[in-house]
Amino acid sequence: MLPWFSSAGNAGSAHALGVLSDGALVHARNEVAALLNASPAELAFNGCGTEGLNHAYRGVLEAFPAKRHFITTAVEHAAVHALVAWAPQHGAEVTVLGVDGQGGAGPWRVGGRAPA
Ligand SMILES: Cc1ncc(COP(=O)(O)O)c(C=O)c1O
Repeated sequence: MLPWFSSAGNAGSAHALGVLSDGALVHARNEVAALLNASPAELAFNGCGTEGLNHAYRGVLEAFPAKRHFITTAVEHAAVHALVAWAPQHGAEVTVLGVDGQGGAGPWRVGGRAPA
């Protein structure tokens, strides 16, 4: 990836740097897919954490209409809190767990609150 930190082009563009960038992206996609034993088409790259979180939350609601309960913690990033505020307006239930004295918020804290 190192060369692309200083001279990357829009991989969706037809100009020379864009075509080079697209080739690098295809190469990276194939390498990551092989590492994950996944199909390259199953991978989605995001430009930032907030974009990835939106992709995950909104994608889950769209892809799994029967799954409408998010469980998160009170100590997540503001980008998660924004989605937690958004989700109930789109038919999702949200459980926000507190954390213990060490900041722990493992699945044992869910108790009986997870849906069957
Ligand atoms: C845990 C966590 N989630 C989400 C984000 C948001 O990422 P971004 O600023 O890349 O959108 C950050 C950013 O620091 C983060 O630390």
